Amino acid sequence: MNLRDGYILVTGGAGYIGSHTIVALMQKGYDRIVSLDNYLNSRPRTYDLIEAITGRRPEIIEASVGDRKTVAHLMRRFEPVGIIHFAALKAVGESMEQPYRYLQNNLADMQVFLEEVYRTARPLFIFSSSCTVYGEVTNLPVYEQTPRQPAQSVYGLTKQLGEDLLDGLCRLGFTGPVVALRYFNPVGAYPDGRLGEWPLGTPNNLVPLICQTAAGLRPFLTIHGKDYPTRDGTCIRDYVHVMDIAEAHVQALEYADRYRPQTMEIFNLGTGHGVSVLEAIRAFEEVNNLKLPYKIGPRRVGDVTAVYSDSTKAERLLGWKPRFNLHDMMRSAWLWQQRLNQEAL
Ligand SMILES: NC(=O)c1ccc[n+]([C@@H]2O[C@H](COP(=O)([O-])OP(=O)(O)OC[C@H]3O[C@@H](n4cnc5c(N)ncnc54)[C@H](O)[C@@H]3O)[C@@H](O)[C@H]2O)c1
Repeated sequence: MNLRDGYILVTGGAGYIGSHTIVALMQKGYDRIVSLDNYLNSRPRTYDLIEAITGRRPEIIEASVGDRKTVAHLMRRFEPVGIIHFAALKAVGESMEQPYRYLQNNLADMQVFLEEVYRTARPLFIFSSSCTVYGEVTNLPVYEQTPRQPAQSVYGLTKQLGEDLLDGLCRLGFTGPVVALRYFNPVGAYPDGRLGEWPLGTPNNLVPLICQTAAGLRPFLTIHGKDYPTRDGTCIRDYVHVMDIAEAHVQALEYADRYRPQTMEIFNLGTGHGVSVLEAIRAFEEVNNLKLPYKIGPRRVGDVTAVYSDSTKAERLLGWKPRFNLHDMMRSAWLWQQRLNQEAL
Protein backbone atom coordinates (compact mmCIF):
# COMPACT_ATOMS: atom_id res chain seq x y z
CA MET A 1 0.00 0.00 0.00
CA ASN A 2 1.17 3.52 -0.73
CA LEU A 3 2.04 5.19 2.58
CA ARG A 4 -0.15 8.17 1.72
CA ASP A 5 -3.22 5.95 1.42
CA GLY A 6 -3.05 4.84 5.04
CA TYR A 7 -3.30 6.72 8.30
CA ILE A 8 -0.30 8.09 10.13
CA LEU A 9 -0.81 8.16 13.90
CA VAL A 10 0.99 11.00 15.62
CA THR A 11 1.09 10.78 19.42
CA GLY A 12 1.62 14.16 21.06
CA GLY A 13 0.41 15.82 17.85
CA ALA A 14 -0.65 19.02 19.64
CA GLY A 15 2.83 19.49 21.08
CA TYR A 16 5.69 21.54 19.72
CA ILE A 17 7.41 19.10 17.38
CA GLY A 18 4.27 17.03 16.78
CA SER A 19 2.28 19.98 15.45
CA HIS A 20 5.07 21.06 13.10
CA THR A 21 5.41 17.47 11.92
CA ILE A 22 1.70 17.29 11.13
CA VAL A 23 2.15 20.43 9.02
CA ALA A 24 5.17 18.87 7.26
CA LEU A 25 3.25 15.64 6.62
CA MET A 26 0.26 17.50 5.21
CA GLN A 27 2.47 19.65 3.03
CA LYS A 28 4.00 16.46 1.62
CA GLY A 29 0.60 15.05 0.70
CA TYR A 30 -0.14 12.96 3.79
CA ASP A 31 -3.79 13.80 4.40
CA ARG A 32 -4.78 10.96 6.68
CA ILE A 33 -3.42 11.81 10.08
CA VAL A 34 -4.68 10.98 13.55
CA SER A 35 -3.35 12.86 16.56
CA LEU A 36 -3.51 11.21 19.97
CA ASP A 37 -2.82 13.68 22.77
CA ASN A 38 -4.01 14.19 26.33
CA TYR A 39 -2.90 17.86 26.42
CA LEU A 40 -0.56 17.33 29.31
CA ASN A 41 1.61 20.05 27.82
CA SER A 42 -0.41 21.48 24.93
CA ARG A 43 -3.83 22.72 23.87
CA PRO A 44 -6.41 21.58 21.33
CA ARG A 45 -6.29 25.12 19.87
CA THR A 46 -3.04 24.12 18.21
CA TYR A 47 -5.09 22.23 15.62
CA ASP A 48 -6.65 25.56 14.54
CA LEU A 49 -3.16 26.86 13.86
CA ILE A 50 -2.32 23.76 11.85
CA GLU A 51 -5.52 24.25 9.86
CA ALA A 52 -4.73 27.92 9.23
CA ILE A 53 -1.48 26.85 7.57
CA THR A 54 -2.52 23.69 5.75
CA GLY A 55 -6.27 24.11 5.30
CA ARG A 56 -6.79 20.74 6.98
CA ARG A 57 -7.16 19.22 10.42
CA PRO A 58 -6.03 15.82 11.59
CA GLU A 59 -8.45 13.41 13.21
CA ILE A 60 -8.21 14.13 16.91
CA ILE A 61 -8.36 11.71 19.82
CA GLU A 62 -7.99 13.05 23.34
CA ALA A 63 -6.44 10.37 25.53
CA SER A 64 -3.20 9.18 27.01
CA VAL A 65 -1.04 6.73 25.08
CA GLY A 66 -1.40 4.63 28.24
CA ASP A 67 -5.17 4.41 27.82
CA ARG A 68 -5.37 0.83 26.66
CA LYS A 69 -8.98 0.83 25.50
CA THR A 70 -8.63 4.00 23.46
CA VAL A 71 -5.42 2.84 21.80
CA ALA A 72 -6.98 -0.53 20.95
CA HIS A 73 -10.03 1.21 19.50
CA LEU A 74 -7.91 3.66 17.56
CA MET A 75 -5.80 0.86 16.08
CA ARG A 76 -8.95 -0.95 14.92
CA ARG A 77 -10.60 2.16 13.55
CA PHE A 78 -7.67 3.72 11.67
CA GLU A 79 -5.29 0.80 11.11
CA PRO A 80 -2.32 3.21 10.90
CA VAL A 81 0.49 2.29 8.52
CA GLY A 82 2.90 4.51 10.42
CA ILE A 83 3.23 5.86 13.94
CA ILE A 84 5.28 8.80 15.11
CA HIS A 85 5.59 8.66 18.88
CA PHE A 86 6.21 12.11 20.35
CA ALA A 87 4.07 11.86 23.48
CA ALA A 88 6.27 12.29 26.52
CA LEU A 89 7.11 14.68 29.31
CA LYS A 90 10.33 16.46 28.48
CA ALA A 91 11.52 18.81 31.22
CA VAL A 92 14.92 17.71 32.48
CA GLY A 93 14.69 19.57 35.83
CA GLU A 94 11.12 18.49 36.51
CA SER A 95 12.08 14.88 35.85
CA MET A 96 14.48 15.06 38.81
CA GLU A 97 11.71 16.34 41.06
CA GLN A 98 9.07 13.88 39.85
CA PRO A 99 11.07 10.84 38.73
CA TYR A 100 8.22 8.33 38.96
CA ARG A 101 5.81 10.56 37.07
CA TYR A 102 8.34 10.62 34.22
CA LEU A 103 8.88 6.87 34.36
CA GLN A 104 5.13 6.30 34.37
CA ASN A 105 4.33 8.63 31.50
CA ASN A 106 7.33 8.10 29.25
CA LEU A 107 7.89 4.39 29.84
CA ALA A 108 5.01 2.57 31.56
CA ASP A 109 2.41 4.31 29.38
CA MET A 110 4.57 3.74 26.33
CA GLN A 111 4.73 0.04 27.16
CA VAL A 112 0.93 -0.16 27.24
CA PHE A 113 0.84 1.75 23.98
CA LEU A 114 3.27 -0.65 22.29
CA GLU A 115 1.35 -3.66 23.54
CA GLU A 116 -1.87 -2.39 21.97
CA VAL A 117 -0.17 -1.21 18.78
CA TYR A 118 1.58 -4.51 18.13
CA ARG A 119 -1.29 -6.74 19.20
CA THR A 120 -2.61 -6.92 15.67
CA ALA A 121 -0.37 -4.86 13.40
CA ARG A 122 3.23 -4.04 12.46
CA PRO A 123 3.15 -0.34 11.49
CA LEU A 124 6.27 1.69 10.83
CA PHE A 125 7.36 3.27 14.10
CA ILE A 126 9.33 6.50 14.55
CA PHE A 127 10.48 7.22 18.09
CA SER A 128 11.33 10.69 19.41
CA SER A 129 14.66 10.25 21.08
CA SER A 130 17.09 12.88 22.18
CA CYS A 131 20.75 13.79 22.35
CA THR A 132 20.30 13.50 26.13
CA VAL A 133 20.81 9.75 25.66
CA TYR A 134 24.51 10.45 25.08
CA GLY A 135 24.93 11.90 28.58
CA GLU A 136 28.15 13.78 29.37
CA VAL A 137 30.21 12.95 26.28
CA THR A 138 33.89 13.73 25.94
CA ASN A 139 34.40 13.24 22.21
CA LEU A 140 32.58 15.68 19.96
CA PRO A 141 30.78 15.64 17.62
CA VAL A 142 28.66 12.69 18.64
CA TYR A 143 27.95 9.96 16.14
CA GLU A 144 25.15 7.43 16.39
CA GLN A 145 27.77 4.85 17.47
CA THR A 146 29.17 7.10 20.20
CA PRO A 147 28.65 5.05 23.38
CA ARG A 148 25.86 6.38 25.55
CA GLN A 149 27.00 7.53 28.99
CA PRO A 150 24.95 7.16 32.17
CA ALA A 151 21.88 9.37 32.01
CA GLN A 152 22.22 12.79 33.63
CA SER A 153 18.51 13.03 34.40
CA VAL A 154 15.46 10.83 34.79
CA TYR A 155 14.18 12.32 31.53
CA GLY A 156 17.37 11.13 29.80
CA LEU A 157 16.95 7.75 31.44
CA THR A 158 13.42 7.42 30.01
CA LYS A 159 14.78 8.12 26.53
CA GLN A 160 17.61 5.59 26.93
CA LEU A 161 15.21 2.95 28.21
CA GLY A 162 12.61 3.83 25.57
CA GLU A 163 15.21 3.22 22.87
CA ASP A 164 16.33 -0.02 24.53
CA LEU A 165 12.78 -1.27 24.79
CA LEU A 166 12.05 -0.63 21.13
CA ASP A 167 15.40 -1.95 19.97
CA GLY A 168 14.95 -5.15 21.98
CA LEU A 169 11.39 -5.74 20.81
CA CYS A 170 12.45 -5.06 17.24
CA ARG A 171 15.36 -7.53 17.38
CA LEU A 172 13.08 -10.15 18.89
CA GLY A 173 10.60 -9.76 16.07
CA PHE A 174 7.75 -8.14 17.97
CA THR A 175 7.59 -4.92 15.93
CA GLY A 176 7.67 -3.67 12.38
CA PRO A 177 10.43 -1.32 11.23
CA VAL A 178 11.58 1.09 13.97
CA VAL A 179 13.54 4.31 13.60
CA ALA A 180 14.77 6.38 16.54
CA LEU A 181 15.50 10.03 15.82
CA ARG A 182 17.85 11.66 18.30
CA TYR A 183 17.03 15.34 18.15
CA PHE A 184 19.60 17.80 19.32
CA ASN A 185 17.99 21.12 20.28
CA PRO A 186 14.88 21.85 18.24
CA VAL A 187 14.07 25.57 18.30
CA GLY A 188 12.27 28.19 16.26
CA ALA A 189 8.83 28.20 14.77
CA TYR A 190 7.01 27.94 11.46
CA PRO A 191 8.90 30.48 9.31
CA ASP A 192 6.09 33.05 9.21
CA GLY A 193 5.39 32.66 12.93
CA ARG A 194 1.90 31.15 12.62
CA LEU A 195 2.82 28.08 14.69
CA GLY A 196 5.44 27.63 17.37
CA GLU A 197 6.30 26.29 20.79
CA TRP A 198 3.34 26.81 23.11
CA PRO A 199 3.90 24.87 26.32
CA LEU A 200 1.67 25.07 29.36
CA GLY A 201 3.29 26.83 32.30
CA THR A 202 6.87 28.03 32.40
CA PRO A 203 9.04 26.96 29.49
CA ASN A 204 12.28 25.17 30.30
CA ASN A 205 14.20 25.71 27.12
CA LEU A 206 16.45 28.60 26.24
CA VAL A 207 14.73 30.02 23.17
CA PRO A 208 11.19 30.35 24.59
CA LEU A 209 12.75 31.97 27.66
CA ILE A 210 14.71 34.38 25.45
CA CYS A 211 11.49 35.26 23.61
CA GLN A 212 9.50 35.81 26.79
CA THR A 213 12.25 38.06 28.13
CA ALA A 214 12.35 40.06 24.90
CA ALA A 215 8.56 40.41 25.11
CA GLY A 216 8.87 41.85 28.60
CA LEU A 217 7.15 38.89 30.25
CA ARG A 218 10.29 38.32 32.34
CA PRO A 219 12.56 41.03 33.67
CA PHE A 220 15.71 39.21 32.58
CA LEU A 221 16.99 35.91 31.28
CA THR A 222 18.96 33.68 33.63
CA ILE A 223 21.95 31.95 32.09
CA HIS A 224 22.51 28.75 34.04
CA GLY A 225 26.24 28.68 34.65
CA LYS A 226 29.12 30.63 33.11
CA ASP A 227 31.85 28.44 34.52
CA TYR A 228 31.68 25.54 32.09
CA PRO A 229 34.92 24.60 30.31
CA THR A 230 33.76 26.10 26.99
CA ARG A 231 34.91 29.08 24.89
CA ASP A 232 32.75 31.59 26.84
CA GLY A 233 31.88 29.53 29.91
CA THR A 234 28.28 28.80 28.86
CA CYS A 235 26.87 25.47 27.70
CA ILE A 236 27.14 24.50 24.07
CA ARG A 237 24.23 23.01 22.14
CA ASP A 238 23.34 22.11 18.59
CA TYR A 239 20.23 24.15 17.74
CA VAL A 240 18.19 22.89 14.83
CA HIS A 241 15.08 24.42 13.28
CA VAL A 242 11.86 22.69 14.25
CA MET A 243 10.69 22.54 10.61
CA ASP A 244 13.90 20.72 9.67
CA ILE A 245 13.20 18.27 12.49
CA ALA A 246 9.58 17.96 11.35
CA GLU A 247 10.59 17.17 7.79
CA ALA A 248 13.03 14.52 8.96
CA HIS A 249 10.06 12.54 10.28
CA VAL A 250 8.50 12.37 6.83
CA GLN A 251 11.83 11.20 5.42
CA ALA A 252 12.23 8.66 8.24
CA LEU A 253 8.80 7.19 7.55
CA GLU A 254 9.57 6.90 3.86
CA TYR A 255 12.96 5.36 4.62
CA ALA A 256 11.43 2.80 6.99
CA ASP A 257 8.81 1.96 4.39
CA ARG A 258 11.34 1.56 1.59
CA TYR A 259 14.08 -0.35 3.42
CA ARG A 260 12.18 -2.00 6.28
CA PRO A 261 15.22 -2.28 8.59
CA GLN A 262 15.25 -5.40 10.77
CA THR A 263 16.84 -3.67 13.74
CA MET A 264 16.12 -0.22 15.11
CA GLU A 265 17.80 2.39 12.95
CA ILE A 266 19.11 5.46 14.80
CA PHE A 267 19.68 8.91 13.31
CA ASN A 268 21.13 12.05 14.86
CA LEU A 269 19.31 15.21 13.86
CA GLY A 270 21.41 18.31 14.39
CA THR A 271 23.23 20.88 12.30
CA GLY A 272 26.66 19.79 13.47
CA HIS A 273 27.42 23.27 14.85
CA GLY A 274 27.90 23.88 18.56
CA VAL A 275 26.49 27.22 19.69
CA SER A 276 26.98 28.62 23.20
CA VAL A 277 24.17 30.19 25.20
CA LEU A 278 25.77 33.62 24.80
CA GLU A 279 26.13 33.11 21.04
CA ALA A 280 22.47 32.10 20.81
CA ILE A 281 21.46 35.26 22.67
CA ARG A 282 23.63 37.36 20.37
CA ALA A 283 22.09 35.77 17.26
CA PHE A 284 18.62 36.56 18.62
CA GLU A 285 19.59 40.17 19.32
CA GLU A 286 21.18 40.62 15.90
CA VAL A 287 18.46 39.20 13.72
CA ASN A 288 15.62 40.84 15.63
CA ASN A 289 17.42 44.06 16.41
CA LEU A 290 16.75 43.80 20.13
CA LYS A 291 18.71 43.92 23.36
CA LEU A 292 18.17 41.20 25.91
CA PRO A 293 18.69 41.71 29.65
CA TYR A 294 20.33 38.68 31.23
CA LYS A 295 21.99 37.57 34.47
CA ILE A 296 24.27 34.73 35.31
CA GLY A 297 22.76 32.16 37.66
CA PRO A 298 23.94 28.82 39.06
CA ARG A 299 24.27 25.70 36.93
CA ARG A 300 21.14 23.62 36.44
CA VAL A 301 20.99 19.97 37.49
CA GLY A 302 21.11 17.61 34.54
CA ASP A 303 22.73 20.02 32.03
CA VAL A 304 25.72 18.64 30.14
CA THR A 305 28.60 20.94 29.17
CA ALA A 306 28.58 20.61 25.42
CA VAL A 307 26.94 18.45 22.83
CA TYR A 308 26.69 18.69 19.07
CA SER A 309 26.02 16.18 16.43
CA ASP A 310 27.42 14.54 13.40
CA SER A 311 24.33 14.09 11.24
CA THR A 312 25.93 12.73 8.09
CA LYS A 313 24.09 9.42 8.50
CA ALA A 314 20.73 11.21 8.22
CA GLU A 315 22.04 13.08 5.21
CA ARG A 316 23.30 9.91 3.55
CA LEU A 317 20.38 7.57 4.24
CA LEU A 318 17.39 9.88 4.67
CA GLY A 319 18.51 12.62 2.31
CA TRP A 320 18.02 15.04 5.22
CA LYS A 321 19.93 18.29 5.41
CA PRO A 322 18.91 21.22 7.62
CA ARG A 323 17.67 24.12 5.49
CA PHE A 324 17.48 26.78 8.18
CA ASN A 325 20.30 28.57 10.02
CA LEU A 326 20.53 30.03 13.54
CA HIS A 327 19.20 33.41 12.40
CA ASP A 328 16.17 31.74 10.78
CA MET A 329 15.53 29.92 14.06
CA MET A 330 15.71 33.11 16.12
CA ARG A 331 13.69 35.18 13.66
CA SER A 332 10.83 32.67 13.48
CA ALA A 333 10.82 32.17 17.26
CA TRP A 334 10.40 35.90 17.77
CA LEU A 335 7.67 36.16 15.10
CA TRP A 336 5.78 33.44 16.95
CA GLN A 337 6.23 35.16 20.30
CA GLN A 338 4.85 38.38 18.84
CA ARG A 339 1.87 36.49 17.52
CA LEU A 340 1.28 35.06 21.00
CA ASN A 341 1.48 38.57 22.48
CA GLN A 342 -0.79 40.25 19.96
CA GLU A 343 -3.55 37.75 19.74
CA ALA A 344 -3.46 36.41 23.30
CA LEU A 345 -3.97 33.04 21.65
N1 LIG B 1 11.78 19.85 22.32
C1 LIG B 1 12.97 19.33 22.55
O1 LIG B 1 13.91 20.04 22.86
C2 LIG B 1 13.20 17.85 22.41
C3 LIG B 1 14.50 17.37 22.25
C4 LIG B 1 14.71 16.00 22.12
C5 LIG B 1 13.63 15.13 22.18
N2 LIG B 1 12.38 15.62 22.34
C6 LIG B 1 11.27 14.68 22.41
O2 LIG B 1 10.36 14.97 21.36
C7 LIG B 1 9.05 14.66 21.77
C8 LIG B 1 8.17 15.87 21.54
O3 LIG B 1 8.70 16.97 22.26
P1 LIG B 1 8.03 18.41 22.21
O4 LIG B 1 9.12 19.39 22.37
O5 LIG B 1 7.12 18.50 21.07
O6 LIG B 1 7.22 18.38 23.59
P2 LIG B 1 5.75 18.86 23.91
O7 LIG B 1 5.57 18.80 25.37
O8 LIG B 1 5.48 20.15 23.23
O9 LIG B 1 4.87 17.76 23.18
C9 LIG B 1 4.59 16.51 23.76
C10 LIG B 1 3.11 16.26 23.54
O10 LIG B 1 2.79 14.98 24.07
C11 LIG B 1 1.63 15.10 24.86
N3 LIG B 1 1.69 14.02 25.86
C12 LIG B 1 2.55 13.87 26.87
N4 LIG B 1 2.31 12.72 27.52
C13 LIG B 1 1.28 12.13 26.90
C14 LIG B 1 0.57 10.92 27.08
N5 LIG B 1 0.86 10.08 28.06
N6 LIG B 1 -0.43 10.61 26.22
C15 LIG B 1 -0.75 11.45 25.20
N7 LIG B 1 -0.13 12.62 24.98
C16 LIG B 1 0.88 12.95 25.82
C17 LIG B 1 1.65 16.50 25.44
O11 LIG B 1 0.38 16.98 25.79
C18 LIG B 1 2.23 17.29 24.25
O12 LIG B 1 1.22 17.71 23.38
C19 LIG B 1 9.13 14.22 23.21
O13 LIG B 1 9.16 12.82 23.24
C20 LIG B 1 10.44 14.80 23.66
O14 LIG B 1 11.00 14.07 24.71
C21 LIG B 1 12.14 16.96 22.44
